[in-house]
Amino acid sequence: MKDIIQLHDRHFKVMITAEEIDRAVEAVAERLNADYADCDTPIFLGVLNGSFMFLSDLIKKIEFNNEITFVKLASYEGTSSTGAVKNLIGLNSSIEGRHIVIVEDIVDTGGSIQHMVELLKAQNPASVEVCTLFFKPASYSKQIPIKYRALEIGNEFIVGYGLDYDQLGRSLKDIYVVSE
Ligand code: IMP
Ligand code: MG
Repeated sequence: MKDIIQLHDRHFKVMITAEEIDRAVEAVAERLNADYADCDTPIFLGVLNGSFMFLSDLIKKIEFNNEITFVKLASYEGTSSTGAVKNLIGLNSSIEGRHIVIVEDIVDTGGSIQHMVELLKAQNPASVEVCTLFFKPASYSKQIPIKYRALEIGNEFIVGYGLDYDQLGRSLKDIYVVSE
């Protein structure tokens, strides 16, 4: 693991190691395994691009029958939220009457997740819960309950394990934070 890396114009240092991430993913998987044990085939809805690594590790720890699908809702450029929200793409089959677990890389202000939950609830699923790898409580300003949060952080900008800085850094197995 490199201590300091450069992505575009910024330097980043390690903040959370792959081992710590794995422990947090394990803990959230245990909660899901308990809560969904008696549910009829929930659908994990991974939000692209950021959640691909979290979902692939999380799902290996899930013990109940499940379906997996990916959707896209992009709203972020650079290191600050643009506030703009876009439409949901990729959901081709009906979710009516189904139990949905949205899998996100990070919930920051909550704008994206609120928009996504509203779009999904309009399709009458049996339930919708949010499972996010990272949650920024100081930044979150919405009412949607974020039931499953693997890790909570401050308002710092992070990259790695799926999360990017203008598309770079997603493949890093540890989490890095801006160092200057
Ligand atoms: P929100 O709508 O403000 O909650 O922003 C959510 C989206 O912004 C996430 O799905 C990420 O794509 C992006 N985002 C927010 N914070 C970070 C960060 O610290 N690093 C990388 N992307 C972030
Ligand atoms: Mg995202």
